[in-house]
Amino acid sequence: MTTDRNEPRTTARRVLITGTAGFIGFHLAILLLDEGFEVHGYDGMSDYYDVNLKHRRHQTLLQHANFHATEALLEDDEKLWQTAEAFAPDIIVHLAAQAGVRYSLENPRAYIESNVVGTFNVMEAARKLEVEHLLMASTSSVYGANDEMPFSELEKADTQLTIYAATKKANESMAHSYAHLWNLPTTMFRFFTVYGPWGRPDLALYKFVDAILDGRPIDIYNHGDMYRDFTYVTDLVRAIRLLIDTPPVRPASKDEIEEGDSLSPVAPFRVVNIGNSDKVRLLDFVEAIEAELGIKAVRNYMPMQMGDVPATWANAELLQRLTGYRPQTDFRDGIAQFVTWFREYYRK
Ligand SMILES: NC(=O)c1ccc[n+]([C@@H]2O[C@H](COP(=O)([O-])OP(=O)(O)OC[C@H]3O[C@@H](n4cnc5c(N)ncnc54)[C@H](O)[C@@H]3O)[C@@H](O)[C@H]2O)c1
Repeated sequence: MTTDRNEPRTTARRVLITGTAGFIGFHLAILLLDEGFEVHGYDGMSDYYDVNLKHRRHQTLLQHANFHATEALLEDDEKLWQTAEAFAPDIIVHLAAQAGVRYSLENPRAYIESNVVGTFNVMEAARKLEVEHLLMASTSSVYGANDEMPFSELEKADTQLTIYAATKKANESMAHSYAHLWNLPTTMFRFFTVYGPWGRPDLALYKFVDAILDGRPIDIYNHGDMYRDFTYVTDLVRAIRLLIDTPPVRPASKDEIEEGDSLSPVAPFRVVNIGNSDKVRLLDFVEAIEAELGIKAVRNYMPMQMGDVPATWANAELLQRLTGYRPQTDFRDGIAQFVTWFREYYRK
């Protein structure tokens, strides 16, 4: 389905966002539309989780006159190219992906198709259109078995533990080569556990709230000895917005790279963590949910899951240096916002 085409061109900056029916893409589109951007969303409405939620997100966006959408897969390179060429974006933000650490054990092929082939198709479109800036989602999962905390972009990240993480690390390498070869300014975000209203049904906060309200037990892995850097979605998309205006520039020599910058010495390319920079104990997160709902959870303590990591924690200094901004929402406030949305949306 394409809901545009002959719309008159405006002077507004044009951003093609993949994954606008998804959690983060939806929030980013709202922010950019509110700021006067023209946004074209591209999403394949994959059935990894409730497709109704995805349609509702797109319906909400379509109320905005400057939003247009194409429903198609990234793997359909012809459709993707036609869409991108007709829209002629100044900027591409690529968020569509097969996400989820745990599902990558069940269906690894979906990750190769969406994340490796799909991302290559996006890169090809960006190269041919010579966009000002290509920004793409990677993940804190690429830090894999690293145990030097907080995770910094300057450290090696070569120990991915799942195919999900491996495809995202592959995306970083692929993007670096295109940035080098075609002088394509490229930023890769490493997102840390994003949560908030309109969130994904496969992620912990959603599953916990849903189960607690229904009186079902919640599964707590590694017997609760888990830590996550929970990042509120509104903060995350604010950081993306600011990074859009900070395209990397190929340095003339290594000496030009400032200390602490992950800028490549041979390409207009950098990797940037987007995280709250706060290591929260999973059990404190659960207690905050219980406090917000006024209901005690039935806790089902479980061993560590295959491919999972006990902790994530972002060093967000580079983000702050580049944009002057760092995410700061306290997880208790973010949980309250999520619960308000969830109860209203599902009338629970
Ligand atoms: N949410 C998080 O905590 C988190 C953490 C790290 C990285 N990320 C990354 O951020 C990005 C956005 O994640 P999200 O949480 O919004 O996930 P999401 O699943 O809600 O959104 C992804 C969207 O991409 C679409 N999509 C998937 N495969 C596609 C394909 N082959 N072709 C076209 N569309 C396709 C889906 O329909 C979905 O709407 C992803 O790249 C994800 O890997 C998310």
